[in-house]
Parts: sequence; C-alpha cells; structure tokens
Amino acid sequence: MIGMQNRALRTSGGQTVLFYRKEPPTRRVPAQDGHRHESCRRGTMQPARARPGLREAQEEPMSIPGESASIAPEVFRQVLGQYPTGVTAITGLDASGDPVAMVVGTFSSVSLDPPLVSFMPTRTSQSYARLLTADVLRANVLSMEQESVCRTLARPGGAEKFSGVEWDPSPLGTPMLRGASAWVEFTIQERIEAGDHDIVIGRVVDLGVGSGGLPLLFLGGGYGRYTAHSRIMPTTADSLTQIRWAEAAKPELEHLSEKLGLEVVFASLIDDAIVQVASFDATRSNARPHPLGVRLPLGAPMGAPIIASASEPARRAWLARSFPGLSENLVQQHLVALDRIRERGWALNLMSESLTEADRSLRALDDGRLSWGSVPLDEQLSDPRTYSAELPSDPTTRIRVRSVSSPVRGPHGDPLFYLTLFGYGEAATSDSVQHSIDDLLTTVRAVEGTVAHP
Ligand SMILES: Cc1cc2nc3c(=O)[nH]c(=O)nc-3n(C[C@H](O)[C@H](O)[C@H](O)COP(=O)(O)O)c2cc1C
Repeated sequence: MIGMQNRALRTSGGQTVLFYRKEPPTRRVPAQDGHRHESCRRGTMQPARARPGLREAQEEPMSIPGESASIAPEVFRQVLGQYPTGVTAITGLDASGDPVAMVVGTFSSVSLDPPLVSFMPTRTSQSYARLLTADVLRANVLSMEQESVCRTLARPGGAEKFSGVEWDPSPLGTPMLRGASAWVEFTIQERIEAGDHDIVIGRVVDLGVGSGGLPLLFLGGGYGRYTAHSRIMPTTADSLTQIRWAEAAKPELEHLSEKLGLEVVFASLIDDAIVQVASFDATRSNARPHPLGVRLPLGAPMGAPIIASASEPARRAWLARSFPGLSENLVQQHLVALDRIRERGWALNLMSESLTEADRSLRALDDGRLSWGSVPLDEQLSDPRTYSAELPSDPTTRIRVRSVSSPVRGPHGDPLFYLTLFGYGEAATSDSVQHSIDDLLTTVRAVEGTVAHP
C-alpha cells in the first residue's frame, strides 16, 4: 500500500491531479565530519542537486476536479504572507572568520529529544553559502526594538552589514546580537532540498533567553509586535503551584479583564521575590505588557496586598528594605495603611511621577539586579497614601488611578497571591473605580473557590 507521504499535487491539462510517487520527493544532504559538509569547509559549497532520476519517479495521475490550474508566485506570497512569523537572524563566523548574518522568518523548533531546530534558506542566498562554512550557528530571535537591525541584516552583502550592529562573539564563537529576545546555538545536522529552498535541521548545543523583551513579528510584508490577550509565564520548579493556580483562574480573570476593559495581573511571592506570573488583557491596549517571570525584590510598596497580612516584624523589614531610616512616625502610618488593606481586602495605588519612574525601572530589572538600589524610590513613595489611598466620597470626582490590587486567600486565610487591575487611564470617576473594585472582589471570591478545590 502506498503511504500518504508519497502523494503530491501536480497540474496536468488545466486540472490539479494527485500523483503517487514511488520515491520521496526530497533529497537529504547529511552533514559530515562534525556536522560540516566537506565542500562547505573549503568554502566552495554548491546547492545540493537532486540525484539523476529522482525527479523522474513514476507517477499515476488521479484527478481532483475543480482545483485551480496553477499558482502564481504573487498569489503564493500574498496568501502565505497572511501567516505571521517571528524574525530571526542566523549568524555565524565564516571560513575567513568574518561575521555572517541572514534574516529568516522560517526559524522553528523541530524536536525536543534530541533537541532540534530548523530554518529554511533560499539556495541562491550568498549569506547562506557563507553560513554553511561556519562551525556553529546562532539563531538570534530579534526583539521588537530591533527592527532597524533586522532591516540592516536583511540586505544582501558581506561582513560590512554588521557596521552599526552591536554584537559580541559567544564562547562558541557565534555573533551574539545585543538585545535579542532569545538565542539558540546549533550545528547543522542535516539539509533537505525542498524546491528552491533548503530545510536546514540544526542540533541544539546551547540556548537561552536574552533581553526578555517581546519578539519582533512579521506579517503581510510589515513589522509589528505581539500584544498579549493573556499570558502565563513558563513553568519553573519553584513556581509550578502558582502557574497551576493562574491556569485554574484563567477563565475568571479573562472574564474580569473583558468586563472592565482593564489588564489583570496575577503576582505572587516566590522565594522572597515578587513575581508576575500571568497577565490577562482583553483590551490588548498595553504596548509594553508587564514582563512575566521577572523577580522583583519584596520591598515597599511592592507586594503590599500580601505583606498586609504578615507579622509586624515582617512588615517593618519590608519597609526598611526600601526606606532604611524611616521615622517611627512614618512607620506607624504605614502599619495603619497595611491594616486598612488587610481589613477591606484591597489596595488603591494613585498615579504619581515618582511611581511612573519607579515602574519604568522595575520593568528594566532582571534576576541579575535583584535590588532596590537600581530603583529610584523618592520621598513621595515613602508616603503610605501612594499604595493605600482612599476613594473620594463624591462619586463624580475624577482620580488618576495607577492600579487596584486584592489578595487571593487560601482556605486558612493566608494570602496565596494577588490580583492587580491596570489601565484606568488619566481620569476615572470615583464611582467607576468603586465598581471595578466590587467586580475585582467578586472575582477574588470565585478564584478562592477555584484554587481551594482545583
Ligand atoms: C522578515 C524577513 C524574513 C525572511 N525570511 C527568509 C527565509 O526564511 N529564508 C530566506 O532564504 N530568506 C529570507 N529572507 C530574506 C533574507 O533575509 C535576505 O534578504 C537575504 O538573505 C539577503 O541576501 P543574501 O543572503 O544573498 O545576502 C527574509 C527577509 C526578511 C526581511
């Protein structure tokens, strides 16, 4: 019996017909000698050619009436251009030691075990021919800030393409583009001829997350960025429970985001750090969504909804971490503010220049800089009213709200994580903020039921 892999569509006499092939339609070009083809090592690599007779496989036509006769290249491009891709610069050092780069939208993961990736270069590409002379290649997943780097490296040309592009050699010798979202280093395991392109299969030797920035996207001939509807951070051992809770609460949190037109962020305390685990943003309006998985130091005013239920020494330590030397008078005001959050179950943050500045720095923080030292916390922020404000009694009064947070408690009353609403805009009425708080608290109660009985 002839398998599906041996069937192919072809055009014959104005009709598209299905042929059975007696051989597979591609040629495999395994890499030799440490994953490098001998002709490539000499820098004389020629495109792989089909074996004589391969194309002359015997075929038996089977008609499919009503199919289109031929596919014009512009139609092919237009239709396939509707499929969005990431943008990756494949880099390497060629046989002369010069950096080479080729921009592709076809980089992809292939296999987990063994770890394999792929990309599909056109065989006429000069850069591809030079990349084949490299020992190791690197896929630099370009971030949305790297559109100009992408345009520079996508031009035809040699090592001069790199002028103005910031890069460093990796320990394995591949050009590391600064600011890439992620990177994968690989050796070529196999090349498969496919039409006018090759499918290059790479064996992963090393990989990592880079800047953590969002990736650059390509669609319909234009560049864009990813706007999240909902995101949950990748699983790590210490955060597994939190991720499960975020997944369990997802329907409720998506519904809340949609109803209020606000972003809902799920954050928790993991190993003495505040981590944003998930974000739900039905409005998709946030061009710079909250970075997930970044560990922020637990110090005032971060994590107030959780610390509000902690012991007094823990609350004092939380204050001292951000504001050492705070007067006892101010400490008392903070303790009262935290009591208020615990009793009413929510915290209101008002917008201020200082908070916006601190937010900006927090977004730039990563694991390597886990300290408040790099976050400007000025006097204004040491005022407890920044994170524990009161709503004006007149419902029509307009206020500038940064966020509203509420802790989600476990069966024994201990806070498990907290939810924060963002995106109130410049001037929300006190009344509308009160309604959003009511909805948030209703959701919190529903989520408490979900996580207590997953
Ligand atoms: C967003 C984007 C995606 C691309 N994807 C591919 C691809 O998957 N395969 C390919 O052969 N060329 C692709 N190209 C084209 C090459 O990057 C580039 O134009 C070509 O390598 C330059 O010519 P050279 O290699 O002869 O120097 C892409 C270009 C852009 C801008």
